[in-house]
Amino acid sequence: MNNFDLLNPTKILFGKNQIANLLKEIPENAKILLLYGSGSIKKNGIYTQVKEALTSYKIIEFGGISANPEYAVLMDALQVIKNEKITFLLAVGGGSVIDGTKFLSAAALFKGENPWDILAKNIAIQKGMPFGTVLTLPATGSEMNSGAVITRKETKEKLVMGGPGLFPIFSILDPEVVKSIPQHQIANGLADAFTHVLEQYITYPVNALIQDRFAEGILQTLIEIAPKIMKNNADYNAAANFMWSCTMALNGLIQKGVPSDWAIHMMGHELTALFGIDHARTLAIILESHYTYNFESKKEKLAQYATRVWNVTKGTTEEKALDGIKKTVQFFQSLGIKTTLSEYTDSYKGTAEIISKRFEERGWKGIGEHGKITPNDVEKIVKMSY
Ligand code: NZQ
Ligand code: ZN
Repeated sequence: MNNFDLLNPTKILFGKNQIANLLKEIPENAKILLLYGSGSIKKNGIYTQVKEALTSYKIIEFGGISANPEYAVLMDALQVIKNEKITFLLAVGGGSVIDGTKFLSAAALFKGENPWDILAKNIAIQKGMPFGTVLTLPATGSEMNSGAVITRKETKEKLVMGGPGLFPIFSILDPEVVKSIPQHQIANGLADAFTHVLEQYITYPVNALIQDRFAEGILQTLIEIAPKIMKNNADYNAAANFMWSCTMALNGLIQKGVPSDWAIHMMGHELTALFGIDHARTLAIILESHYTYNFESKKEKLAQYATRVWNVTKGTTEEKALDGIKKTVQFFQSLGIKTTLSEYTDSYKGTAEIISKRFEERGWKGIGEHGKITPNDVEKIVKMSY
């Protein structure tokens, strides 16, 4: 097992009716900016619950943070924070609203001239404006981690940021919110969380037995609840296990003491930036070719995964590993997710070259757990995903 430091300061309030406890978590005298997306919270009653919990506070609102949060929109919100002398941010939404809020938390205290530098120069944020979240969509784990992904349409870029100053102070996880989520977003959440675990698990063995078992437990839980929550989003027990699995998949715990990959995400982000494909679906497009291309260095963990998670008992290490890849693709497809780029767009030709050029320009010379996947390899992997 590798050495590690672990600190996760986010307080979780989990379960039915927890939104009513918002009041206890926000500092007295806070001037709150409530941030939300394109309006689902006004239809499903979450907005009303939040407002009722906070009647004693002065609240300004900013809506319109859409999926894949857009830099230009966030710059408008930053102006509101400055004009209104906001002291606390409250994100009510999925990964996009939470990530947008993290950017604002950083930008509100940023001393530099151009807030885009936070992303372009990947500045590690040590301190941000305090914020909390009410999660409305299990998927990203953003509610309990310190990372964010921001999109800039103008330049078709999607970049990552973060730092120890960007953990939410608290996050409210009420599984009842799942009952208004459309089925294709539930599928996205399942596939995103599943891939988060794989990015931290399908690498190479380092004798981190407990981390492996944590990872396998989350994967098995997602597989078990997937058909139930896809069929009935009002199934509270399935929703609760879905929600907590997504949080646990990316709150730092399973990542400690082990190598992690993240190449699927790095390539996937480019597909969202170029074509607007949902985040989770870009991962489903890349995964099979990434694991096939890097088969030799990943086969031991792939075989372990196939055996322990999918109960594959027969065959050599190689055969089991191949079966593990196949079962993963079938799992995505069982959620109604298409797994090749050409099923999403007709104009896919040339994509591999564009992405490898971008990696080259950004100086991303070697990605993956060994830092050895070059822009040239990326080009081949993306091409295999057409
Ligand atoms: O815009 P609103 O009204 O909020 O509607 C959203 C949106 O249309 C809707 N929705 C959310 N909760 C709902 C609901 N509809 C009905 N009922 C509810 N309870 O769902 C749509 C998608 O929401 P979004 O927040 O975009 O989805 P998700 O949580 O999947 O977030 C995706 C973003 O997170 C980033 C992705 O790249 C993408 O930009 N990620 C963030 C990560 C992180 N911070 O750790 C890690 C991930 O790998 C990922 O990259
Ligand atoms: Zn993801």
